[in-house]
Amino acid sequence: CGIVGYIGDHAAAPYVIEGLKTLEYRGYDSAGIAVLGSKGATIVRSVGRIRDLEAKLPKRLTGKVGIGHTRWATHGPATTDNAHPHTSADGRIALVHNGIIDNAATLRTKLMAAGVPFTSDTDTEVVAHLIARSDADTLEGAVLDALAQITGTYALAVTDSGHPDRIVIARNGSPLIIGVGEKETLIASDAAALVRHTTRVVHLDDGELATVTAGGFHTFDREANDTGREPVEIDLAATDLELTGHAHYMYKEILEQPERAAAVIRGRLDARFATARLNGLNLSPRELRAFRRVKFLGCGSAYYVGQIGAQLIEDLARIPADAEPASEFRYRNPIIEPDTLYVVVSQSGETADTAFAVQEIKRKGGTVIGAVNVVGSTIAREVDGGIYLHAGPEIAVASTKALTNMAMAFGMFALHLGRLHDLSYADGERISNALKAIPEQIQEILDSEPAIAAIAQRVAKAENAFFIGRVRQYPVAREGAQKLKEISYVHAEAYPTSELKHGPLALIDPAMLTVAVVPDDELASRNIAAVEQVRARGGEVVAITHEAVEFGTMAIERIVVPKTEPELDPILLIIPTQLLAYHAALVLGHDVDKPRNLAKSVTVE
Ligand code: G6P
Repeated sequence: CGIVGYIGDHAAAPYVIEGLKTLEYRGYDSAGIAVLGSKGATIVRSVGRIRDLEAKLPKRLTGKVGIGHTRWATHGPATTDNAHPHTSADGRIALVHNGIIDNAATLRTKLMAAGVPFTSDTDTEVVAHLIARSDADTLEGAVLDALAQITGTYALAVTDSGHPDRIVIARNGSPLIIGVGEKETLIASDAAALVRHTTRVVHLDDGELATVTAGGFHTFDREANDTGREPVEIDLAATDLELTGHAHYMYKEILEQPERAAAVIRGRLDARFATARLNGLNLSPRELRAFRRVKFLGCGSAYYVGQIGAQLIEDLARIPADAEPASEFRYRNPIIEPDTLYVVVSQSGETADTAFAVQEIKRKGGTVIGAVNVVGSTIAREVDGGIYLHAGPEIAVASTKALTNMAMAFGMFALHLGRLHDLSYADGERISNALKAIPEQIQEILDSEPAIAAIAQRVAKAENAFFIGRVRQYPVAREGAQKLKEISYVHAEAYPTSELKHGPLALIDPAMLTVAVVPDDELASRNIAAVEQVRARGGEVVAITHEAVEFGTMAIERIVVPKTEPELDPILLIIPTQLLAYHAALVLGHDVDKPRNLAKSVTVE
């Protein structure tokens, strides 16, 4: 979910709506706004997108204080009643909330027993009632009273029509940022929603609150002590967030990859020692050498790229490495080892499951670094060090350029670690030179888009698809299947190529499409044999492959990508899967940037 707020010299509604549109990636099943005017609060809520909410706004909504919310349903379905803002029974308090109140059910029972009427199924509504029932004199005092009774995670923004000169906000586990403008102050879950108006921001810390007024802000803690925060300048241009003439953000972001992949390696490859310089790791060579194991943690696509990272570490540094879904990690009471280096992977830096994994590792004394795109995000601030991805803002729900830069970052990280172990100078140079060439090679793949788009026509007709890849290419298959599912809703499953014959082969018939990743490497002949097994049973095959791979007389579609070093092949082999999914979704007429049921950043568990 996403939160915005405005207080200042102008009518608040347009600011709030514009901010919500920027935050729509955080959830888009329902939305709402509260505007404080001379006659109290006007609340408008709607199911669907921000544009549906906008269409419902009354013509003259001139109040200069407003808060808004875009929702990704957790408690209760996406209905207008469950949309935020939620209000107290007398309508005086309005609030928007991101996060989950863990003890909402208990509080709700108590409040209902005391005669408080509830109008929604949400966990949030209890907070509005608790604030309204506090006997504190100030809104700040009432919010503190309410927070003392709740447990869980939240970013909250509260208005009180009895105190129309302020918005009170609080953070615990969900991000909240204040933007300080000229005679206006904004708040948002993400700086991207502020940068059109100001680049002077304060990232609230967990446990921190603030009073936000037209003239500025005042931060304090749960004991009402001043925390004296000052704004900092952020480096994010409003133009980075525009579509710049493209039909979809996903497409724009796919095309940006050569430039962004060059940005992630810029200044980080060290020719003299044939290694990579990653200063943000905050780990000395001695400390790095002491790790006996590396574990990558991430969710969704970030987990799959973590698998690519683990393989790179094993290939180049010869240290045991693996990847695990961050969403499962903390629930299985993981053994945190002091000689394991944990690497959390997240584009947004806000994925709740991943952030919790970080906390679990830190609590148990582990060392955790991040591969994160959004500077200053929750995860970026919690880890001990890391590698920023420099992919620029990624808006489309389906991640593309951020994933590529994660894989590039892991290439550099594995090179760095390898050179601290026994990777030779020559091999270091070989990997380093290959990394440098990748941005241009990505461009070559993008130039072959028309051919890939033609094959996507066929993919769009499939009801089911297998994606197969062996060893280094298995994560490529997983990511390819995920993309197709996410945006084209074609059912796709990934299998390690060698596993196909152990079960799934039973499903092969002319209606089943198989996308096989077949690089020109030491395993090519085995992969070709697997493709033959599929063809022999009448299955259709699209191969993502290299020029040198020969399929004989087999009738298959080929998508050819440039060859890099074998360790880095996945980075390039993954690119066509983006275009396949994108064009299949276009053919099927789906909302490419905002697929159904999903959110780009899942900021709740
Ligand atoms: C959500 C998105 C996925 C994304 C995952 C991790 O589930 O729908 O596309 O891969 O979160 O996001 P992160 O921002 O942590 O990389």
